[in-house]
Amino acid sequence: MSAYTGFEALWHDLFWEAEEAPSEVLLIDEFLQKKDGRSLYVGSGSGRLLGPLAEAGHELVGLEISPEMVALSREKFPKVKVSEESWQKHEGNYASIVIPAFTFQLFEDPQRQLQRLREQTDHLYLTLFFPWAELSGDLPSNEWYFDRSISLPSGETGELETRHKIKEQAGSLVRKHRYVMKDAAGEIVKKEETVQRMRFFTDVALKNLLKKTGWEIEKEVLNLGDGEEDDLVYVCTFYLRGM
Ligand SMILES: C[S@@+](CC[C@H](N)C(=O)[O-])C[C@H]1O[C@@H](n2cnc3c(N)ncnc32)[C@H](O)[C@@H]1O
Repeated sequence: MSAYTGFEALWHDLFWEAEEAPSEVLLIDEFLQKKDGRSLYVGSGSGRLLGPLAEAGHELVGLEISPEMVALSREKFPKVKVSEESWQKHEGNYASIVIPAFTFQLFEDPQRQLQRLREQTDHLYLTLFFPWAELSGDLPSNEWYFDRSISLPSGETGELETRHKIKEQAGSLVRKHRYVMKDAAGEIVKKEETVQRMRFFTDVALKNLLKKTGWEIEKEVLNLGDGEEDDLVYVCTFYLRGM
């Protein structure tokens, strides 16, 4: 399973902030309008998006596999309900289900998962990313490269190095992450490594998969609504409804 742990969990929100990508809160807020009843947020993490949405009045509960992420979420948003469980083991029916921030791509057997989501709800919010930088060679494969760095509240620096392997035909991307904590003098305090196995889909393959599993597209938002129309599509968000 792909539970976030250690620095990957602790530094998750700081890396998102450093990326300065548009937030998905507005899109999820729009998607949840007029959904009557309880909705489920799969992979709700530290509550970064779940917290503001639940506080804005949406009947949204979180589901998160990582105990560390759940603890961060409960600490930051004590009134917002989060269950510590793997979605693959979770049973229930919902007015809608939201899976932002690429979490769906961490799941094995996407066809089976889309079918199972269809059994649990008639309305699904899904955000997926497409690894253009890895495919085009802009990011080197099979070697470590500097990814991002953040200033930690404790005064140290957090650095992320990444190494990936991509198989275009199989739609598989394996990313190793190396998290390095450095003190003010630049000395390494601690290092941790994680591995993420992700799936990615071409537009055609994804649309076939959605059709096959009983989903039709209500709305599609490119690059989180940011940028020009003819930009490469790195991120695609779907509002889906059951056929
Ligand atoms: C990319 S992070 C996104 C977190 C959050 N949605 C956000 O945007 O801040 C993916 C999250 O999904 C959780 N996760 C991964 N597999 C899961 C599963 N099978 N069931 C529930 N949560 C899962 C991870 O622990 C991690 O917190």
